[in-house]
Amino acid sequence: MTEDAKTIPSEGGRSPARALVRSYGCQMNVYDAARMSDLLAKEGYDAAAREEDAELVVLNTCHIREKAAEKIYSELGRLAVLKEERRAQGKSLEIVVAGCVAQAEGELVMRRQRAVDLVVGPQSYHRLPALLKEAREGARVADTDFAAREKFQALPAPTKAQIAARGVSAFVTVQEGCDKFCSFCVVPYTRGAEISRKVESIIEEARRLVDGGVREIVLIGQNVNAYRGEDEAGRSTPLEGLFERLSAFDDLTRLRYTTSHPVDMTEGLIDAHASLEKLAPFLHLPVQSGSDRVLKEMNRRHDARHYLDVVERLRRVRPDIAISSDFIVGFPGETEEDFQATLALIDAVEFASSFFFKYSPRPGTPGAEREDQIDEDTKRDRLARLEARVEAQRRAFNAATVGRTLEVLFEKQGRHDGQIAGKSPYMQAVHVDGDEGEIGRLRPVKIVAAGPNSLSGEIVEAREFA
Ligand code: 5AD
Ligand code: SF4
Repeated sequence: MTEDAKTIPSEGGRSPARALVRSYGCQMNVYDAARMSDLLAKEGYDAAAREEDAELVVLNTCHIREKAAEKIYSELGRLAVLKEERRAQGKSLEIVVAGCVAQAEGELVMRRQRAVDLVVGPQSYHRLPALLKEAREGARVADTDFAAREKFQALPAPTKAQIAARGVSAFVTVQEGCDKFCSFCVVPYTRGAEISRKVESIIEEARRLVDGGVREIVLIGQNVNAYRGEDEAGRSTPLEGLFERLSAFDDLTRLRYTTSHPVDMTEGLIDAHASLEKLAPFLHLPVQSGSDRVLKEMNRRHDARHYLDVVERLRRVRPDIAISSDFIVGFPGETEEDFQATLALIDAVEFASSFFFKYSPRPGTPGAEREDQIDEDTKRDRLARLEARVEAQRRAFNAATVGRTLEVLFEKQGRHDGQIAGKSPYMQAVHVDGDEGEIGRLRPVKIVAAGPNSLSGEIVEAREFA
């Protein structure tokens, strides 16, 4: 999970108003924040880098775990103080709450924090300008409708300058929402039912991004591999169909996707990892638990065997594929034996990297209603043991790349002068000494060392690339 202050590239409008969209949580929020920033720039807002410099602050919020939601209320408390100070000086600060807290808690957000002017859900943010106008006319507005189909059509296409601000790698939402209803998860309630964007609209957005300099596209969705979008002829197209179309873009060098569900890993998608050269050999495939009993109670619709089979099939067609996962420890009723089954699955798979969480009861989900909640000490203890196991695997995976030559897509300048940074096919950060002119290029890099969080290497000539 990341926190990302998204500044808004100025469109050179004369309006003195400045806006800041701050994003919390998952990649979809990062994408939504970028689209909101583009929209506000079109409305004449300049970019603010800090709340203190902004007349409009949008918090694009996350509701996935209790801590994420509480963080928003403490941030709102800080903004309320700033708003009061402004008011004393005869100035203003408009505060907007967007994203999943907005969707899940709606008007409650305004009741908990009176300084909030507007609450807008993830499917309504294309209406931000009109809603801001209503708020200015004195209404306290909460718009949390689910009308996803309208949103992408209504949003303005990003300009060249806005695309340049995205960098070398850009997200494109292809699918939103979730019909799976895992018993711990709020997403089906905050993001609604699964909806796939039309192929044409995705291809058009990707074309614009690539023409503007983007070299890697990450297709995103809460359940991205459940994607079934309509193509120009009205045919239902799976995710690999999008990858095939995007592979034909000459200047696009790499494709990724996230987040996938094990039950939607079809043969077609697995085979795409063998046949499509641009599709990176990396898959984020959350398993959550290795215990069949817990998986059933989580309503995951798969068991450990199914997950291991998917991994095996992927490795058969693409032996070097790296797998990452999410884990939850301390789901209600989880026993030590269940937890041991998770550790056994970790040993069996050998993950390249993982995210791990203590179970956090979310209001409105079946898991939160259960009486067999696990105590905090047990959760903490299991989390520490799980972390030790997956971190050891991550370090081993990184160390095993030393001596290999990997294709690195350079994304930005490094930590010091003369250094540039990029990503390996396996999502590892790689630093090399090199020229800024390499940014945006895919180059063979011989890995010479593996640190705790990144690799370092040397660019080699293509002919040395084995
Ligand atoms: N408690 C802890 N972790 C959760 N996740 C989702 N809901 C919860 C919850 N209630 C984790 C899952 C998911 C990731 C994005 O967040 O592992 O894959
Ligand atoms: Fe949440 Fe499960 Fe849907 Fe993923 S698949 S978004 S964990 S309900």
